[in-house]
Amino acid sequence: MPLLGLGLYKATADGEAENAIRSAALMGYRLFDTASAYKNEENVGRGIMSCGIPREQLFVTTKIWNNAQRIGNIEGALVRSLDRLGLDYVDLYLVHWPVPGCYLDTWRVFEELYRSGRARAIGVSNFNEFQLDDLLMHSDVVPAVNQIEYHPLFRQDGIRTFCQKNGIVVQACAPLARGAYLYKDVLRVIAEKYHRSTAQVGLRWILQKGCAVIPKSVHEDRILENSQIFDFELDEMEMDAIDALNENYRSASIPEDLLV
Ligand SMILES: NC(=O)c1ccc[n+]([C@@H]2O[C@H](COP(=O)([O-])OP(=O)(O)OC[C@H]3O[C@@H](n4cnc5c(N)ncnc54)[C@H](OP(=O)(O)O)[C@@H]3O)[C@@H](O)[C@H]2O)c1
Repeated sequence: MPLLGLGLYKATADGEAENAIRSAALMGYRLFDTASAYKNEENVGRGIMSCGIPREQLFVTTKIWNNAQRIGNIEGALVRSLDRLGLDYVDLYLVHWPVPGCYLDTWRVFEELYRSGRARAIGVSNFNEFQLDDLLMHSDVVPAVNQIEYHPLFRQDGIRTFCQKNGIVVQACAPLARGAYLYKDVLRVIAEKYHRSTAQVGLRWILQKGCAVIPKSVHEDRILENSQIFDFELDEMEMDAIDALNENYRSASIPEDLLV
């Protein structure tokens, strides 16, 4: 799985996802992250078809939403996502949220979808250590990925190290905290030293924590900026200074149907 991908949440305006994917593909992005809940799988599919890169060189992720888990229509959910995307397989299919009482049953069907080849890899998202432990104890296939919010303001090191010890890749979603840390002085000073932006420093910090990143942008200049994070390295003191920014700040909300 590429370490860098393009997030596509909220890329729903006319042509937005398609244009962002075409630009990103030209710049070297190969991973595109959507979800049935984002209501843009058709647009993402069109972007993938028209980006000029052969399908087998791309990595497409989508996710099952909570309602499909509740009614137990797991295979049907993937079939509908594939239909909307215009693909015959996804590279990664994620359980978007750990719906209590459902996620173990969901995972059993995910294992079948994996074996069928329609999901080349399967994983989870927003799982904590307890839920992952539960899954590991009751299943055969270890999730390839746990996609969780992870950035300098939300350093979830407990779940990160748990995943890394168990061979599960942590993919950081909302890696820019939707802009919330971009004006922090600590980051500005480091960014100036490397002639980078604070967004690039934040993304680089995540990579150096051993995680993958999927920043979202629909603007060409930012898509490019967010990809230029592989040619500089933060030193230990800089990593520690960024570590200290943690405030357990969550920028992405927990869905209402999981709060009841
Ligand atoms: N599994 C989950 O539950 C979950 C939750 C949240 C997100 N995700 C995934 O992770 C992806 C990324 O998360 P996110 O979209 O929530 O937030 P994000 O990537 O942290 O931030 C995106 C926001 O930052 C802006 N931005 C992007 N690059 C920038 C830059 N270089 N400088 C300044 N602003 C910049 C974007 O605006 P413009 O687009 O206008 O440039 C957008 O408003 C999502 O798109 C989705 O694919 C998954």
